[in-house]
Amino acid sequence: MSLTFTTTPNPSPASDAERAAVLADPGFGKYFTDHMATATWTAGEGWHDGRVSAYGPITIMPSAAVLHYAQEIFEGLKAYRHADGSIWSFRPEANARRMARSSARLALPVLEEEDFVASLRALVEVDRAWVPEVEDGGEKSLYLRPFMYASEAFLGVRPANEVTYSVIASPAGAYFAGGLKPVTLWISQHFARAGAGGTGAAKCGGNYASSLAGQLEGIEHGCDQAVFLDAATQTFIEELGGMNLFLVTKDDRLVTPELTGSILEGVTRSSILDLGKELGLDPEERRIPIEEWKDGVRSGEIVEVFACGTAAVVTPVGELRWEGGTAPSTAGGAGGEITNAIRRRLLDIQYGRVEDTHGWLTRLA
Ligand code: COI
Repeated sequence: MSLTFTTTPNPSPASDAERAAVLADPGFGKYFTDHMATATWTAGEGWHDGRVSAYGPITIMPSAAVLHYAQEIFEGLKAYRHADGSIWSFRPEANARRMARSSARLALPVLEEEDFVASLRALVEVDRAWVPEVEDGGEKSLYLRPFMYASEAFLGVRPANEVTYSVIASPAGAYFAGGLKPVTLWISQHFARAGAGGTGAAKCGGNYASSLAGQLEGIEHGCDQAVFLDAATQTFIEELGGMNLFLVTKDDRLVTPELTGSILEGVTRSSILDLGKELGLDPEERRIPIEEWKDGVRSGEIVEVFACGTAAVVTPVGELRWEGGTAPSTAGGAGGEITNAIRRRLLDIQYGRVEDTHGWLTRLA
């Protein structure tokens, strides 16, 4: 039986003026809407008690398993306002399927695709005023963050018998504080993000926690983000921890690390492989030695590098740094021609400015 979400309106929502101030300059992940969606799973009853209520603190026992053993997963997707006021999301079914794969890896219950989409619809319906208008060339949206965690108060190490699922929503502009400009990357040589047989392909909080030491090292070296290599040999490019990576070659190949089981299967990544083909590029998923990047940007073989993800959309990558060396940026001041063409195409589809020939959009409100 499918879940229904019953709405109890927030008795003290933000005023129109407060909301307008947030939407004028939302940044990323700083502000939250008036409501959240929640559902509970128990081993006896399955999923039940779907509800939308006021956004606010949650009560959890100090012994809740998630706080000790990190049995937790999440998703990230966005709601876009189209010119006619309707609100759409981009491939939410793909996020639902990935969440189900993450559930399997973290021994959490599966939330059915229709229940996942119903939770988004229920929240966006009541918080629709929080979905920003998009400005020309901009990327404002309402970022949706579904997450699921072991809420059972129990310290034995086993899959929890009580699990909570929630969705919160946050008005979003560009992910990086400086707006759309090339980011500098640091090669994390001391810290791997994920290894063979681990949780790297799952969207679980632990992967992001394990990326932070590398990211910190990068920041100490004046970089915006770290790039992680394969844990076994420290040879091949994996991902950035919160974004996938693409290289563009001078002979129009669009190259990205193949899905090895330790890389997140990005929805944006897979969409760009399709869009690249339509823009006349030759997509290539394979192992990429980090040396290929270093040598390629110097020789002119690699003409552009960009990162992508739901939050980051398509972000040009500039200089690459590591202990004892640097490789030059190919991004200029605002990213290369192909990076920007892919970015424009993706945003045009998401905001309904061009026909959605792939059937990627799902109406939420
Ligand atoms: C996303 O792009 O949605 C992510 O989850 C990346 C990051 C913000 C954690």
